[in-house]
Order: sequence, then structure tokens, then C-alpha cells
Amino acid sequence: MSMLYIVSLTGCSYLSACVCRYPLGMSGGQIQDEDISASSQWSESTAARYGRLDFEEGDGAWCPERTVEPDSLKEFLQIDLRSLHFITLVGTQGRHAGGIGNEFAQMYKIKYSRDGSRWISWRNRQGEQVIEGNRNAYDIMLKDLEPPIIARFVRFMPVSDHSMNVCMRVELYGCEWLDGLVSYNAPAGEQMSLEGQPVHFNDSVYDGAVIYSMTEGLGQLTDGMCGLDDFTHSHVYNVWPGYDYVGWTNESFPNGYVEIMFEFDRTRNFTTMKVHCNNMFTRHIKAFRQVVCYFRSEADWEATPLSFSPVVDDVNPSARFITVSLANHMASAMKCHFYFADTWMMFSEITFQSDTAMYNTTLAPPKTGSGPPTRDDPTHKIDDSNTRILIGCLVAIIFILVAIIVIILWRQVWQKMLEKASRRMLDDELTASLSLQSETFAYSHNNPSSSSAPSEQESSSTYERIFPLGPDYQEPSRLIRKLPEFSHSSEEAGDMKSPYCDGVPHYAEADIVNLQGVTGGNTYAVPALTMDLLSGKDVAVEEFPRKLLTFKEKLGEGQFGEVHLCEAEGMQEFMDEDFSFDISDNQPVLVAVKMLRADANKNARNDFLKEIKIMSRLKDPNIIRLLAVCICSDPLCMITEYMENGDLNQFLSRHEPEGQLALISNAPTVSYSNLCYMATQIASGMRYLSSLNFVHRDLATRNCLVGKNYTIKIADFGMSRNLYSGDYYRIQGRAVLPIRWMSWESILLGKFTTASDVWAFGVTLWETLTFCNEQPYSQLTDEQVIENTGEFFRDQKRQVYLPQPVLCPDSVYKIMLNCWRRNTKERPSFQEIHRALLESQT
Ligand SMILES: *[C@@H]1O[C@H](CO)[C@@H](O)[C@H](O)[C@H]1NC(C)=O
Ligand SMILES: *[C@@H]1O[C@H](CO)[C@@H](O)[C@H](O)[C@H]1NC(C)=O
Ligand SMILES: *[C@@H]1O[C@H](CO)[C@@H](O)[C@H](O)[C@H]1NC(C)=O
Ligand SMILES: *[C@@H]1O[C@H](CO)[C@@H](O)[C@H](O)[C@H]1NC(C)=O
Repeated sequence: MSMLYIVSLTGCSYLSACVCRYPLGMSGGQIQDEDISASSQWSESTAARYGRLDFEEGDGAWCPERTVEPDSLKEFLQIDLRSLHFITLVGTQGRHAGGIGNEFAQMYKIKYSRDGSRWISWRNRQGEQVIEGNRNAYDIMLKDLEPPIIARFVRFMPVSDHSMNVCMRVELYGCEWLDGLVSYNAPAGEQMSLEGQPVHFNDSVYDGAVIYSMTEGLGQLTDGMCGLDDFTHSHVYNVWPGYDYVGWTNESFPNGYVEIMFEFDRTRNFTTMKVHCNNMFTRHIKAFRQVVCYFRSEADWEATPLSFSPVVDDVNPSARFITVSLANHMASAMKCHFYFADTWMMFSEITFQSDTAMYNTTLAPPKTGSGPPTRDDPTHKIDDSNTRILIGCLVAIIFILVAIIVIILWRQVWQKMLEKASRRMLDDELTASLSLQSETFAYSHNNPSSSSAPSEQESSSTYERIFPLGPDYQEPSRLIRKLPEFSHSSEEAGDMKSPYCDGVPHYAEADIVNLQGVTGGNTYAVPALTMDLLSGKDVAVEEFPRKLLTFKEKLGEGQFGEVHLCEAEGMQEFMDEDFSFDISDNQPVLVAVKMLRADANKNARNDFLKEIKIMSRLKDPNIIRLLAVCICSDPLCMITEYMENGDLNQFLSRHEPEGQLALISNAPTVSYSNLCYMATQIASGMRYLSSLNFVHRDLATRNCLVGKNYTIKIADFGMSRNLYSGDYYRIQGRAVLPIRWMSWESILLGKFTTASDVWAFGVTLWETLTFCNEQPYSQLTDEQVIENTGEFFRDQKRQVYLPQPVLCPDSVYKIMLNCWRRNTKERPSFQEIHRALLESQT
């Protein structure tokens, strides 16, 4: 872990942002009470120190004295981390207090400071300050900070559009900022004209002042994101060309150099500086020819500067880190003159290695009491000059291996949980033993409590990185925490508690997508046979010019990619003639763009391409169509249809049934026959999928999109979880489970088939006819839902069915009940469902 810790700050392009996600100690207690303060408090029992995520002490959260008013930013909760940290993620939660509390912040802003006096408002890469907060008092909302923050002090400031009582519990995630850099001052980045188009090399996330030059801030040179070889492209989606780089032309610098001044938190013993430079010499961009650095330790500048001339490279055009040895100069500030080697010079990242970066091998979170925690023990030096990248790679591999091992172990625990839960649900007289799909999980009823508690996993749980989850999916670690209630013997309960009851969402590799507040990580499950039929031929869709896409909003994200809602110009040319978009020509079209992060591993890339092949062959009026792809350059994208009315869940929540009530409230309505029409289309789309033996695995109203005139298309914005090769898929298959939509055999046995899709269809139909005004089984807790699943399995008439919706005629309720038959063979096929729904309308 300690190696990771160091590498996390030297790597680039997402490495720091994705590795550096450790909770900094609000929930874990490493941050001391006296370092948590607030603008005010409602009472002693809601003081700042109770604002710790996942804590229930005191009255359950920090609450300010006054209500939060619109446009007033008086209240804040402040955390002092005692030293500079690189913060990539924040988590917030409201006051639940065992059900008594119901205060939370719907929105908030963040301010931060490195010195405690100058406060900076955080903005995302699009310039927005407000962060969406919680929707209830208990769920934890996690938000990535893009760009990340480098700060010692952080303030959470609740924001509201109406007067309301707000309470907060928070956590920060990141790691220590070993560079110690507190600001760099540089001339403002300039603008290039490339084939008549302006390319901007300004430092768009710089947090200091920018007038003629940049002063007192940090920005793109320290955001952990390296530019690509081709400076016109970026890791960040939908930004202008040149985004990642800060660049200058020699025209503006008659002396032939650019001066950058660096200030540090204190005097340090410097070993190296690394400068990430573009080297696209064909465009007259080269790394610097020479750098001359001056050092200031106390008040005075040292007389003798240090000079270094890298070899000018006009063979290899790739962007690279240039390492400058700083020869153990002691300094608290440094100014360097970078000499032009060509017309342009462009930097995307500058890092510093100094004594305090050489820690003792213990990974030190903010420690108890003893002030700034990391200035101790410069005992273990790492010689990093030439081998950094190698170490980085090795460590990345180790990290992945560790993550995979943890997942495998975790999966075994999880399966043991399920095994126990289902065993307990079975009656004692049941002697049959089931043989299961998964070879790691051979079920046997009279298996004595095979409780080999996996103690190997107890390590490092405080340092688990975390990834966000959405509300409709059950997080297995939570399930596991709940499952002990099933157990009778304390020994087993203890066994189940082991490593995952520590409150940290326990995720490593799950790829999770937030689609409008909904998480889903699935794609269609494709049987190997069908896969063979489908693959082989080339991709049947065309490349789309990336620049014609205009970003509108982020629909979701996962570890390997993101889903964006975009407008596409000229999409008409990319559509088959058999494909009718009911819009006039030259109108931009709404599309969803699934994008693979440029740093995704090779498997993820291959599987993304595989998914494109599969998707390109799905052609049905009720299935979302793949329109085009961008696979000639990174990041890889697939562009699918999106429908103007969003998903069916949100659509129905905005509408009401026709009737007296709707007349009075003047709310938009949907007639019963239109509800039926939509349900019939879902059945029709599923009929098509099932005819290809595709299993959707996450059918629900949230995965159906609504277009004009109540047209429906079934979507799947997951990031192809099952495609991550055989084993990996099975590990991840259990990562996030929509249990309220799942058949008993999917939950208990891990079996996903067309028959389990039929079950989910029954639930989807129920949602539709209730206008999605509540979750299925909303009166049952998650563990009760699982218990109910056991009753479905036992089939002794004790199972609870979803009730008949008011609008639902008996004939349609009968279809639902048939979908929820215990015996999969007795469930209707989608063909039959489709026919029955059509008949019910006549
Ligand atoms: C940087 O340039 C882009 C493109 O012209 C512009 O939209 C943005 O506002 C600029 N940012 C800053 C901080 O100057
Ligand atoms: C800086 O570090 C080097 C290597 O650890 C050491 O040899 C040197 O004495 C240090 N310089 C000062 C001034 O402490
Ligand atoms: C800028 O660099 C180019 C290429 O090295 C050179 O030809 C040109 O004279 C330089 N311009 C100035 C103003 O120094
Ligand atoms: C490394 O740090 C740990 C705890 O931070 C400390 O107990 C240990 O003595 C240190 N090792 C050395 C060699 O200084």
C-alpha cells in the first residue's frame, strides 16, 4: 500500500485521481474532533464534531443554528487536514439518527484553502460551483471532484433554493500532497491558430489570479492529468482542443524562455522535478531545450542556479516526462527558466520529489494528535529518477492483482452469505441438494457450517477505494451487513461480520453507472453460441466525427467509462434508411454517448469493441439503436439513440392517471390505454431480445426510454459488465443487484435467463401501472425482500406478491402473477405476454 501511496502522486492521467481515493478520517476517526469546526451549531449535540460520515453519535450530524436560506452562504462545516492533501472525492449524508432525523443538504458548495486565509470556491471543469447533495437523510452521496482539490482546509457549505433545515455528515477522500507545492506563477497560456481554428492553451482550472500572468494558484499543471501525444485531444470529454496543456510561443518571449515560479509549504530537500511536455515537433512544439532553476531557502535567492539541458528529441513525437535532477537543493521557492527549443512549448503536468516524499514505508493517514502527520521518518528512500515509470507499472499491476484477489475472496464470503441465507430459508425437511451454475458455490443442504472466516481480508479495509452506487441497486456489502439477522447461531453471525461491516462501501472493480440517479452496470448477457454468430464480421456502424457532438449532461459513470447526453449534428447521414427519427433535417439529435476512458485496460477496450459488435446487430423498433461510433481515436465512444422524454420511471412520475384528481391538479396525464401501449412495446422489445437468446438482466422502467407519442425503447447504459471475460464477469456479476426486480433464482442461485427477464418484466409492468409512485415492495426492507425471495423458493403460500394496482384489470394482474411463478417453465414467454397484452386492450 505504501508504494501505491507514493506512486499515486507521480503517475498521471487519472492514475492519481483513481488510486487516490482513501477516506481521510472523518468516518475512521483519524481526523480529531478539534480539527472539525463550523460556522454555528444548533446545539451541543449537533456540534461540528458530529458531522462525521456514517457516525450516529450525538444527535446524529452537524446542524447549523439557523435554517439555510437561498443565496446565503453563511453556514459551513470546516475540516482541517493538518497538511496539504490531494482530494478527489467527497461524500455527504444527512441526519438520520435512527429514524428521528430527516435533515439533509440537497446541494452544497465547497471552499478550500491551503493556508487558512485565502479561500477558494471549487468549480468543476464546466465552471459550476453547486454540487448535488443528498435526497434523503441516510444514503451516502459520493461526488468526484473534477478537478481535484489541493488543500489543507475544506469547507462544506449547504445551499438551498428554499428555506430549510439542513444537517450534514461528510467525508473527504484522497491522499497526501507530497509535492508540497502551494502555488505556481507563470505567464498566461496562449492561443495557437491551427488550420484556421484557435487552439487554447490557457490554464482553465487555475485557482489563483489570472491577469497578464497567473499568480498564487494551482491548476492544470498539478491536476494529475497528463496531456495526450496529440495536444488537440484530451482525456476530458467535450472541451476545447488544447485543454490539457498550458502552452506558450517564443514570439511573446524575446528572452527565449518562460519563467515559472514555484512556492512550497516549507523548506524542502529537493531531488527531482518532472515536467510533462508535449513533443509534436511536426507542429513546431518541442520540449524545452534547457532549464535554469534558482532556489530560495530563507529570504535570499541562491547565487548559483542549476542548469540542465535534456536531449532535444525530434524523432519521437510522444508526450513525455522530463526528469530534472535538483541535486538536493534546499528551498522553499524555486524559479525556473524553460528555454524554447522550437516555436511552441507545452506542459501538462509538473511534479516535485523532495525529502518528505521519502517516507517510512508505513502508509500514514492523518495520525492522532501529533500535528502535521507526515514530516517524520525520512528513513526509507526511493530512488526514483529513472525507474519511476517502471515502478508505476509494476505497482499498477500489483494493485490490480490485489484488487482481484480481494474481489475473489469477497465474492466467496458473499456467496457463503447467500448460501447460509438460503439454507436457512429452506425448511429442514428439504433434503434435496441443488447443484449450481457457479463452480465456486456448490450448494449442499447438510453442509455443516463451513465457516472458514476469511481472515486474510481483514487488512486495509480503511483504505479501500470507493466507487459510487445508486439507490435502486443493492450494494452487496450492505446486504451482507444485514444478513446476520437471518442467522441463528452467534458463531455464524460473527463469521459474517468479518471484514465488511466496517461501513466503508466495499468496492474495487465494479463498473457502475449512474443513469439519472440510477445505477446499472449491466449489458445484455450473450450466450457463447450467439456471440460466435454475431462476432466475426466487422463492425457494421460508421465512424462519427467527434467534433459534431455537443455535451449536455453526464448521465452516468463507472470505473471504465462514462455515459453522456449529447446533441449530435448531422446524425441523419448515419442512420439507415429503415430507421426513422421523427425529426426534421439538420436538427441536432439527442444521443447518449458511452465513452471508454482512455486509460482503460486492454481487456476493457476489447470488450468495448465487442459490445459495439453486439449492439450494432440489435435492430428492433423497441430497442435502443447503436447509431455510430468513434473508434478511430481515443476515447472510444459508442453513440446510441436517446429519447427526448427520458426514462419511463421519471416520465411516469411526472404524470398522473386520468381522472377527477388530475383535472383539479391540472397535472399531465397518461391514459390507461397508453400505459398498456407502452407495456406492450416493452414486451415486444423483450420478445426480440429473447428470440436472440439475449438476457437483459436489468429490465426495469428506469432502463426504458420514452420518445414522442409514448414510443418506448429498451436501453442498457451499463458498461458491459459481463463482457469482462469469463471469470471477471462472474466476480462482477454480483457486484450490484437490483433485488426488487430479480427472480428468486437470480438472487439465490445467480441464474439469469429469459425466464428471469420475464419476472423482471412483471415488476416493470407493475411499476408502469402504478405510475412508478413507489419502489416495488417499498414497505419491505432489503432483508425482508430477500426473506420473501426465500418464501418464493419454498412456495408455501407465505410469499408476498406485489399488490394489484388500482388501474390494473384482473386479466393484466394475472399476467403479472404468471411472471412470478416459482417454476421458470410455467412462466409465460415474451411472445405470450405480448399477445396477452394486446388482447387485454381490445
Ligand atoms: C480558456 O479558453 C477557453 C476557450 O476559449 C475559454 O472558454 C475559457 O473560458 C478559458 N478559461 C480561462 C480560465 O480563461
Ligand atoms: C538532502 O538529502 C540528501 C539525501 O538524503 C542528504 O544527503 C543531504 O544531506 C540533505 N541535505 C540537507 C541540507 O539536509
Ligand atoms: C521562434 O522559434 C523558431 C523555431 O526555432 C525560430 O525560427 C524563430 O526565429 C523564433 N522566433 C523568435 C521571435 O525568437
Ligand atoms: C516508521 O513509522 C512508524 C510509524 O509511523 C514508526 O513506528 C517507525 O519507527 C518508523 N520507522 C523508522 C525506521 O523510523
